[in-house]
Amino acid sequence: MAVDAARAAGHLLKRELLGPRRIAYKDSPTNLVTEMDARAEELIVGRLTAAFPHDAVLGEERGATAGRSGRRWIIDPLDGTTNYAHGLRTFGVSIALETDKRVELGVVFDPNLDELFVAERGRGATVNDQPLAVSTTGTLDESLLATGFPYNIRQTTDNNLTEYAAFSVRARAVRRMGSAVLYLSWLACGRLDGYWELRLGPWDVAAGSLLVEEAGGRITNLHGGPLDLDAPSLVASNGRIHDAVLAVLAELRGNGAR
Ligand code: IPD
Ligand code: CA
Ligand code: CA
Repeated sequence: MAVDAARAAGHLLKRELLGPRRIAYKDSPTNLVTEMDARAEELIVGRLTAAFPHDAVLGEERGATAGRSGRRWIIDPLDGTTNYAHGLRTFGVSIALETDKRVELGVVFDPNLDELFVAERGRGATVNDQPLAVSTTGTLDESLLATGFPYNIRQTTDNNLTEYAAFSVRARAVRRMGSAVLYLSWLACGRLDGYWELRLGPWDVAAGSLLVEEAGGRITNLHGGPLDLDAPSLVASNGRIHDAVLAVLAELRGNGAR
């Protein structure tokens, strides 16, 4: 059901990409939303709630709906809205299923590359049905990293620019392509070695975190502790370079709980 919903939403987004579209600001000119975010979410939520009426749902656009089954769907209907609004084909759909607060299923669909990523807890992860695994890169020096910047970049000095500069000279390169969901998927299949970002939302991370874990990688908060899915600031990696990434962050940010 989740795979079908992710595919249907992805195909809808791809079909409408170049059509006329209204773009609005959520709270600032750096935080966009299009009517396609809501349309894709309606499609996904409509299918899931018809099939599982007692499950709770957390969707980025419509917020939380309670349920009594102990299960919760966490949905980012369009991750990479800024890219989408500019006609750039780097965006994805993310659907996760949580049972008793633990992510058990993660589905990510990239309609442009026609790549479907699926992870089930304890059963591994696949891309287009092929098993996937994180990279074996052993040093930060040889690593390809990714990051992003918070929407309130203009309002805060804790905006990741210092970290971006530091990793840019310590890693092979740092990419910034505007889709947290795709970064986590690409990390899971070994195309990226590491990824960090501050202040994401649960929908950005839920499905991708399981992809990373099931692919043999590691995902933590910025201090190496457990990821807080409700307010994720994260480091994700192939595991081998994780401590090196954490060490750079500790050097720049200290060990406080920011
Ligand atoms: C955003 C993207 C972006 C990240 C932002 C996210 P959205 O999601 O994942 O890469 O830097 O923090 O909010 O708004 O396009 O769904
Ligand atoms: Ca997102
Ligand atoms: Ca989104």
